[in-house]
Amino acid sequence: MRLSQFYLPTLKETPKEAEIASHRLMLRAGMVRQSSAGIYTWLPLGHRVLRRIEQIVREEQDHAGAQEMLMPTIQPAEVWRKSGRYDDYGPEMLRIIDRHERELLYGPTNEELITEIFAATVRSYRDLPKMLYHIQWKFRDEVRPRFGVMRGREFLMKDCYSFDLDYEGAVRSYRKMFVSYLRTFARMGLKAIPMEAATGPIGGDLSHEFIVLAPTGESAVFCDREVLDIDVLSEDVDYGDDGALGAVIDRFTRVYARTEEKHVAADFEKTVPEARRYEGRGIEVGQVFYFGKKYSTPMGAVVTGPDGQAVTVEMGSYGIGVSRLVGAIIEACHDDNGIIWPDAVAPFDVEIINLRPGDEACDAACMEAYAKLQSAGKDVLYDDRDERPGVKFADADLIGIPWRMVIGPRGIKDGKVELKRRDGTVADEVSLAVALDRLAAAARG
Ligand SMILES: Nc1ncnc2c1ncn2[C@@H]1O[C@H](COP(=O)(O)OP(=O)(O)O)[C@@H](O)[C@H]1O
Ligand SMILES: [Mg+2]
Repeated sequence: MRLSQFYLPTLKETPKEAEIASHRLMLRAGMVRQSSAGIYTWLPLGHRVLRRIEQIVREEQDHAGAQEMLMPTIQPAEVWRKSGRYDDYGPEMLRIIDRHERELLYGPTNEELITEIFAATVRSYRDLPKMLYHIQWKFRDEVRPRFGVMRGREFLMKDCYSFDLDYEGAVRSYRKMFVSYLRTFARMGLKAIPMEAATGPIGGDLSHEFIVLAPTGESAVFCDREVLDIDVLSEDVDYGDDGALGAVIDRFTRVYARTEEKHVAADFEKTVPEARRYEGRGIEVGQVFYFGKKYSTPMGAVVTGPDGQAVTVEMGSYGIGVSRLVGAIIEACHDDNGIIWPDAVAPFDVEIINLRPGDEACDAACMEAYAKLQSAGKDVLYDDRDERPGVKFADADLIGIPWRMVIGPRGIKDGKVELKRRDGTVADEVSLAVALDRLAAAARG
């Protein structure tokens, strides 16, 4: 993509309404634009990141054995009356009346709808277990939408639902999702700490929140520092082996806590030696729930068991805030000058900066780099604009592409280009050929 043609409406001024770094940076970098309170348009740069995050979530859900589907955003009120949540949900639910005076709502979550679908279509224990998910926009009429996409009213969520014949099966599904969450967030370059959580309006018996460390986060985090060093991606995960899943989870939950309760601090001090105590703040990016028969009983999700008896199915639900993750990643990965995208979610892999557009040698070298990187499968942003170098560097820092290749008249005379990483780990002058080889070999994350 040539930057001169890319739709990238960056802002010079820092927007006054933005209280936290991610919100400021997303507006300044032209990633999103607010349409109304808590509702955003995703501009091309932001949309690219959203899509990459969504794809990692999808791959890890599939890997864990879940199957993708797509339920609508608009749901009939009737299914929520069956579960009893239509009245309980309160003013956060956006209620809609259609032209026939039928009551509808914009879904805040999908337990009811999926249970209704399941109850109508599955009859036998032979069809179990099942894990079904979708990635769809949700609406919650939050009293105080804030922090940009982190607490929006409309937001993109992955929600998965598990159906099992018995409690043991349900726990197995919970563990698969738990481990897939650890892998999902690690692939995005994040440290996400699982914390035992209260179940809230979804109800049920067992729940964990996954909290990404960031000083501006709304959740308190207590954990053993050793948990921060576990590299889950290096573990050989076998979703068919329940014991192995349990072992991975145990390593992460050696120290956990109910985030909002006072007794935690005391427990924490009792169980973790002082030198290993980590206390910080973080952002909730996902939550998993086991809630048994809370929805299957009122909604009649029943199958015939192996002995011919009717069995009410055991369920769990598993959410990831896909749009919130964009903000959470920026909170975790930025400096004073802008965003520092982890490779795996970056909107482009490489940015080429032409310091002197119009100079024949510079233009030729840039075009060669642009073409070769693209044929090596890289997403490339080429800053071919007629702007001062200072403006280009400032914009490159702001939008945070992981690799940068700077091509200018002085370097080109000696056959050199500058190759840099936005995170500061590489800053080299090398030949164009060497730079291209190194970029071609760089993992995409
Ligand atoms: N208002 C919101 N804006 C953006 N993301 C949200 C919002 N509410 C929830 N999410 C995301 O969806 C995930 C699953 O939602 P859930 O746990 O049901 O929400 P909550 O914790 O607000 O009750 C959360 O972990 C969070 O990442
Ligand atoms: Mg939650």
